[in-house]
Amino acid sequence: MYGASSFAADGEKLFAPCVACHGSKGEGNATLNAPALAGQDAVYIERQLRNFRTRRRGTDKADVLGTQMQAAATTMLTDDAAVTQVASYVAKLPKTVNAKPAPGDLHNGNNKYQGICGACHGVTAEGNPALKAPRLVGLDAHYIKRQFAHFRDGVRGTDPKDTPGRQMAMMSKTLATDRDLDDIIAFIHRQGRPK
Ligand code: HEC
Ligand code: HEC
Repeated sequence: MYGASSFAADGEKLFAPCVACHGSKGEGNATLNAPALAGQDAVYIERQLRNFRTRRRGTDKADVLGTQMQAAATTMLTDDAAVTQVASYVAKLPKTVNAKPAPGDLHNGNNKYQGICGACHGVTAEGNPALKAPRLVGLDAHYIKRQFAHFRDGVRGTDPKDTPGRQMAMMSKTLATDRDLDDIIAFIHRQGRPK
């Protein structure tokens, strides 16, 4: 029988090979294009790992970085139990915020974010597990832009069984300009910080 503490210890062990890219605290590494994972909802993390492992994410020819992660998810995690354990470990790591908030028009960012994104990702971008929408605070600007473009361009969220991904793909087409996304990111980066 597994006790709660050995479950956590296993999660830490399973996460050991991931820290080379995602950082020892799961804070992410923008230079390696690896996003922050710390404090992200466990069900979201688990779903993404399964998406990589079942080739629903990270197999498009245009998705070089997703392909890298697709390989890591397939080779470093042996089975479904390992996926669940590592996801639960990552979700319990203390949440991170953006050390260097991206510049942008916060007024426009706030308006656009609340008008389009907040209904799903939450008013402070902390995510909403009930709607399967992940936390966006802590993600670096390049990662957010790349995912947004991938949803919009049919690189992520196209698999018929990827319902949450397809929902976000639909939403990515409602934003008028790249400038608006820059401003939205500036708004997201101000969240969760001491005012
Ligand atoms: C070689 C570097 C590398 C290693 C090792 C690695 N990752 Fe990743 N990971 C990435 C990159 C790069 C991305 C972003 C892919 C993209 O742009 O779509 C990513 C994305 C992810 C995502 C998706 C996050 C999101 O917000 O959707 C999860 C979850 C994840 N990794 C978990 C892990 C776990 C758990 C391990 C260890 C078993 C691991 N990674 C090992 C590079 C790595
Ligand atoms: C109808 C609900 C909904 C709305 C509105 C919405 N999203 Fe999402 N978003 C989602 C869901 C669900 C996911 C998770 C998709 C998945 O599981 O792959 C997601 C994923 C994302 C991701 C990927 C995060 C990661 O860690 O990889 C980004 C970035 C994102 N959304 C940004 C936005 C922005 C910016 C807006 C506003 C312009 C927005 N979303 C509006 C539901 C929504």
